[in-house]
Amino acid sequence: MSPVMEARSLRRHYAVGGGLFGKGGLVKAVDGLSFTLERGRTLAIVGESGSGKSTLARVATLMEPPTDGDLLLDGKPTANVGAATRRALRLSVQMVFQNPYGSLNPRKTVGSILMEPLTINGRGDRGAREAAARAMMAKVGLRPDHFGRYPHMFSGGQRQRIALARALMLNPPVVVADEPVSALDVSIQAQVLNLMMDLQEELGLAYLFISHDLSVVRHIADDVLVLYLGRPAEHAPKESLFARPLHPYTQALLAATPSVDPAHRQRTAPVRGELPSPLNPPPGCAFASRCPHATVRCTAEAPELRPLERHLVACHHAEAIVARLAA
Ligand SMILES: Nc1ncnc2c1ncn2[C@@H]1O[C@H](COP(=O)(O)OP(=O)(O)O)[C@@H](O)[C@H]1O
Ligand SMILES: [Mg+2]
Repeated sequence: MSPVMEARSLRRHYAVGGGLFGKGGLVKAVDGLSFTLERGRTLAIVGESGSGKSTLARVATLMEPPTDGDLLLDGKPTANVGAATRRALRLSVQMVFQNPYGSLNPRKTVGSILMEPLTINGRGDRGAREAAARAMMAKVGLRPDHFGRYPHMFSGGQRQRIALARALMLNPPVVVADEPVSALDVSIQAQVLNLMMDLQEELGLAYLFISHDLSVVRHIADDVLVLYLGRPAEHAPKESLFARPLHPYTQALLAATPSVDPAHRQRTAPVRGELPSPLNPPPGCAFASRCPHATVRCTAEAPELRPLERHLVACHHAEAIVARLAA
């Protein structure tokens, strides 16, 4: 069976500037990402703010075309397809956004928000749509009397339940979730993550789960792809990535990840120094300016993503780092 989603060297570049402040430039928001996502699995995309996560989400949901590379859904290419095929492909990848306050229409009831995807796509009659909406409400843990209520009457966690329910109304095989719990209190995050995992098991859903927070990813991911400035730094099965991170950036992120125990959570910057500007970045490894292992080679030559142990890692010094881990 084909993966439900496959990315092959995806790039999304933006031409910017050229105004008052001189020459324009190119922001390489997503710059060469490849992965496969299988039915029923969760691939987490992790990186700091500005690393290209939301750009990838827009490309993966066909809201924007890639500048280069291919996105395949269920083994089928998504570029150069007719309007009808494109519509069908878009429906098969649904999105859940970070902001549970902005992503739901405040003037619509929960019932009509959930029925809307069915109405727009001409599915069923009014009675069937209402029955489907009520069944989905039960699945995500909303009460029957919530049907006629408005989004502002709900907490952030309940709103994400509504957003999830809406995303699932057309039975998509894939959901792209862009920081779905980042705006929620830590105490509510686990409830929403557990709901997502229950729905995944029941419906065989695949998640492209985007987050800046490794403690959240640890809860839900099967595989993890760590991004740095639009490029892959490390890609590995979750257990292995957390137990034995090979890339210096992953190691730094993990060292700064707060304990899952809320009493010990701290809000420190994950890594020293700033993310470099994505505008015309220097040659070499994008992480070199912040990396404790960087050498001259790192500032001159960009490391390719390559296999090491069960990981893929983009670091010239990964072997030396592994040797140190073993010592
Ligand atoms: N439409 C756009 N035009 C120009 N630059 C963009 C656009 N969208 C995103 N970017 C830039 O691409 C980079 C990645 O942004 P984004 O994908 O939002 O990252 P993340 O979601 O990881 O914070 C940022 O430097 C951002 O400013
Ligand atoms: Mg984002």
